[in-house]
Amino acid sequence: MPISSLPLDDDTNRNLIGQSFEGIDTPAVVVDLDVVEANVRRFQAYCDDHGLGLRPHIKTHKIPEFAALQMTAGAVGINCQKIGEAEVMADAGLSDILITFNILGPAKLARLRRLAERCALTVTADNETVVAGLAATMAGAGQPLDILVECDTGAGRCGVQSPEAALDLARRIAAFPALRFRGLMTYPKAGAARAAADWLAKAKALCEADGLPCPVVSSGGTPDMWGAGDLGTVTEYRAGTYFYNDRSLIARKVCAVADCALTVLATVVSRPTAGRAIIDAGSKALTSDLLGLEGYGFIPSLPKASIYALSEEHGFVDLRDDADRPAVGDKIRIIPNHACVVSNLVERVYAIRDGKVVDILRVQARGRSQ
Ligand SMILES: Cc1ncc(COP(=O)(O)O)c(C=O)c1O
Repeated sequence: MPISSLPLDDDTNRNLIGQSFEGIDTPAVVVDLDVVEANVRRFQAYCDDHGLGLRPHIKTHKIPEFAALQMTAGAVGINCQKIGEAEVMADAGLSDILITFNILGPAKLARLRRLAERCALTVTADNETVVAGLAATMAGAGQPLDILVECDTGAGRCGVQSPEAALDLARRIAAFPALRFRGLMTYPKAGAARAAADWLAKAKALCEADGLPCPVVSSGGTPDMWGAGDLGTVTEYRAGTYFYNDRSLIARKVCAVADCALTVLATVVSRPTAGRAIIDAGSKALTSDLLGLEGYGFIPSLPKASIYALSEEHGFVDLRDDADRPAVGDKIRIIPNHACVVSNLVERVYAIRDGKVVDILRVQARGRSQ
């Protein structure tokens, strides 16, 4: 496990190492490293067994040391959503990066060119404007920039709308000397991985029949990751949330409570009524993401309780029965609905093993949304 990247800049933090996580001031994000390592090992083994390249999406943790852990476990490279995230990862020595976002505008394109000079970079595109911008930016570079065509296989976000349109864009990419068409990418709708793979198989066949090899067919998503090995055409899989897991994945039966590595530690600051507790974790700690669920997180130590409302700094907990615990001052751990957005809210995470703080890691790519 990597050494802390965060200067232990005050005595409170320095004194925490080796101590129980209960001593961490709240609200705070606590990460159980044993659970993280088990999550990484399990899905890496699955990908290895099925001949799939695993390309973890680092938006879940935004921490270079964790990306390095995934690479050491056997990942083929990493996936970032933003140039800012990729810059942080490249600075830390991560050398194979896929950015799954249409990059537009002179400021970002200039950064992209610099990034391409210091790591093996692949970028996705779903339209001609983006492709033309990438081609102009990379003109005269030592080597062409690798491009995947992003395909909308049903999620209704970005992506070309048909296999024929994928071929059309692939041809345009291949026509630019500064670019190299490498294949196809999709982020399928959860539960629709099979249909997405069939879509991609058709697009790949069209490209190959046209003389455009498609060595990379990249799909992803934690909800469907345990079926990734049966998708045939797919060569690499991008999973992000599997690293921590969260309440949304428990609800989808993709993981168990024990597989959730990230919790938000909060303190009960008030017990205004017998059935209500107020905690110091509101929307700025738990986020207001519901992801179709009721309530804003799961409290394993109070499984019947519901975090039914949030204001910015307060969480409202319905304890369901008249309850004599938790008391004011007690700390509770919450599995958030959506771990990835929680990561973006904190400067540091407290890494624990067996309930003791072993490291404090800076969330270096938090807020790098440009
Ligand atoms: C393009 C892309 N690939 C992969 C992922 C990873 O998805 P998950 O966190 O479900 O594994 C995401 C998540 O937002 C994504 O947008």
